[in-house]
Amino acid sequence: MSEPVNTSRRRVAIAAAAVPGALTGAAIVAPFVASLAPSERAKAAGAPVEVDISAIKPGEKLNVEWRGKVVWVMKRTAEQIASLDKIPASQLTDAESRKSSQPAYATGATRSITPDLVVMEGVCTHLGCSPTAKLSPGELGNDWVGGFYCPCHGSKFDLAGRVYTGSPAPTNLAVPPHKIAGTMLTIGIGQDGKEA
Ligand code: FES
Repeated sequence: MSEPVNTSRRRVAIAAAAVPGALTGAAIVAPFVASLAPSERAKAAGAPVEVDISAIKPGEKLNVEWRGKVVWVMKRTAEQIASLDKIPASQLTDAESRKSSQPAYATGATRSITPDLVVMEGVCTHLGCSPTAKLSPGELGNDWVGGFYCPCHGSKFDLAGRVYTGSPAPTNLAVPPHKIAGTMLTIGIGQDGKEA
């Protein structure tokens, strides 16, 4: 008889490593994230992942694994949230096209349930490389307000994962279904409680 698949939610323990915020111009380093080692079969089954977000400070980003992909969980500062409005719509490629395939909360300028906490896949929508955080304003030119840069072919994304016009990536970074209840984020379940 085959072993039953463990589909219970995985809880991710966040360990240490506070990081200075982007306001200082310092590079952001993703804090260490430890997983409670789910079974390979549970991973394959795509069990939802729970993350305690209470320890994430403004300007910090965590890397969490969900369904074999890296998911970024980032708490944006007030300045980073404000930066999203500074980017003209003409500089953004994908304002509308993913509405049908993304959670409703991923379609506004912040692409998030709450203005500060953004949850998105750290996977470039061109050919799947992992973009690099370039969070400091001016880091990629005078009009750069902070975001992510894919070194493979030069795609640029803002701090909501919106792709800049002229990038080879055709669409924004994907926002996985997720919900927030108090200090607990669950990736893989929508706000309606339905599992993705
Ligand atoms: S894979 Fe990111 S730009 Fe090509």
